[in-house]
Amino acid sequence: MRRAVIAGNWKMFKTVKEAVALVSELKKSLTEADDREIIVAPPFTSLFPLSKEIKGSVIKLSAQDCFWEKEGAYTGQVSPLMLKDAGCSHVIIGHSERRQYFAETDETVNRKARASLDAGLIPIMCIGEMLEEREEGETFAVLETQLQGGMQDIPVKETEGFIIAYEPVWAIGTGKTATPEQAEEVHAFIRGRLEKAYSRTVAQGIRILYGGSVKPENIDALMAKPDIDGALVGGASLKADSFSRICQFIRAC
Ligand code: PGA
Repeated sequence: MRRAVIAGNWKMFKTVKEAVALVSELKKSLTEADDREIIVAPPFTSLFPLSKEIKGSVIKLSAQDCFWEKEGAYTGQVSPLMLKDAGCSHVIIGHSERRQYFAETDETVNRKARASLDAGLIPIMCIGEMLEEREEGETFAVLETQLQGGMQDIPVKETEGFIIAYEPVWAIGTGKTATPEQAEEVHAFIRGRLEKAYSRTVAQGIRILYGGSVKPENIDALMAKPDIDGALVGGASLKADSFSRICQFIRAC
């Protein structure tokens, strides 16, 4: 059984003070459970303060992006090494908002993924189709390209712990969630491609999260599906009560 992952992507929300307040609220309701991991991804400015706040709790820390070089004259960029140093264990890469607004490509996603692994960070690599692509029947082709491009030259030994987040762009922040059946169909497809690219063992070990309007009301149905190993949560991760409820999902199967 793969260990579930619930990750909260706070995007560009919360000052340091607000971030610390949210995590201290979350700590009260979240207790250690063998079957799940809890991650929060605040903006860069709150990473270091939160690394102290989460000590001794079940919460792990992720950044929302990184650059691929270790250091250098790259104004405005932050390296995986620096993220590790600030207390991160994970880093989100290739989020659709970065692809859409910040010219992220499969090639840059791949460079970031490899650099993160080199620094000892676990990438949470996001892939997902746009509405037009789904309507044109291109979902699987788009995902296959993103998956192949993003994981290019990542050797088997580095795939341990690797996390993929399937986030249909049309479901992000729109209130429109993919149905558990739609999500499962895609997750099973992704796992099949991983099996082809690596092996059955590798494919069975990689966690595939669903993201896109995950809420307390739909998490249990999503988690009942065999290939859905967790969730990447945006809006509903910004409040302690909704995020705690999502973290406390009940697995029906
Ligand atoms: P949402 O965002 O839950 O607000 O739809 C998910 C994400 O962008 O990771």
